[in-house]
Amino acid sequence: MAFPQTRLRRLRKTGVLRDLVRETDLSVAHLVQPLFVEHGLDRRTPIESMPGIDRLSINHAVEEAGELHALGVPAVLLFGIPAAKDDEGSGAWDDEGVVQLATRAIKEAHPDLLVMTDVCLCEYTSHGHCGRLRPDGSVDNDSSVELLARTAVSQARAGSDAVAPSDMMDGRVGAIRAALDDDGLADTPIVAYSAKFASAFYGPFREAADSTPAFGDRRAYQMDPANVREAVREALLDVEEGADVVMVKPALPYLDVIRAVREATRVPVAAYNVSGEYAMVKAAAARGWLDERATVLESLLAIRRAGADLIFTYHAKEAAGWLR
Ligand code: PBG
Repeated sequence: MAFPQTRLRRLRKTGVLRDLVRETDLSVAHLVQPLFVEHGLDRRTPIESMPGIDRLSINHAVEEAGELHALGVPAVLLFGIPAAKDDEGSGAWDDEGVVQLATRAIKEAHPDLLVMTDVCLCEYTSHGHCGRLRPDGSVDNDSSVELLARTAVSQARAGSDAVAPSDMMDGRVGAIRAALDDDGLADTPIVAYSAKFASAFYGPFREAADSTPAFGDRRAYQMDPANVREAVREALLDVEEGADVVMVKPALPYLDVIRAVREATRVPVAAYNVSGEYAMVKAAAARGWLDERATVLESLLAIRRAGADLIFTYHAKEAAGWLR
């Protein structure tokens, strides 16, 4: 008697069948669009290595936020490019700083759009590192944590719906939670960049945010790309300290890390599809080497399949149009 052949193709026959048994869904509801907000009036500065993404002055950021909201994108993540930088990055916790002003303006114009704010010092420090420097040029953990907590409070007071620390200092999630709670901001969630790797894929972002370290690199605070167990430790520790969401970053080269963190924790997991991932797709698509729409949607689906609940991606706006 012939062995009955297993026919997996039976359920692939039609679109209706495929839809019925699809294991992972991708919708605009999971996407967050990062925005670069720069100082100045009525400016829009293209970022060469990120075609389609501009640095926006506040009025343009408000306009862009409105377009995103209309397309169904539920949230934005703000990065600030201040007019002036200093040693400590004091622009980060300035109540009249570029992110604080942009947050207020966007929330006023589009109250239903979720505004998240990136908490880090590298866009504000003259040296481009994510914390305060010791005389020997290394980043001092604990005094940096204080400045980051101050930054988070200032952003939350300005109306940020969630603060997202991306600096990778130890203990910053707990310190930010305590500072927010002390300030009557107990309802502001923390989206922690928990497993943020020291990655070459951040290259275009550093052009966008003008935050390339003036010397050295970030390997003494961001994670070694070789480590997955350590990523799980980072995530678990952040949850213990009060993180409401834990993030893995970058996304596509780290799908195994997203999966490991997903399995180790019960909180929502975010993935950050970073600037270099975006730039690769854009560059290949511009040459006609990849079908951009298909590539983007497949990539985002794969990030969801790996276990991400929400995805920070520069493709959010375009994907929103495609996913309608
Ligand atoms: C700030 C920060 C970076 C990114 C997000 N927050 C840059 C870095 O750490 O160098 C990268 C985002 C991207 O590449 O899209 N610390």
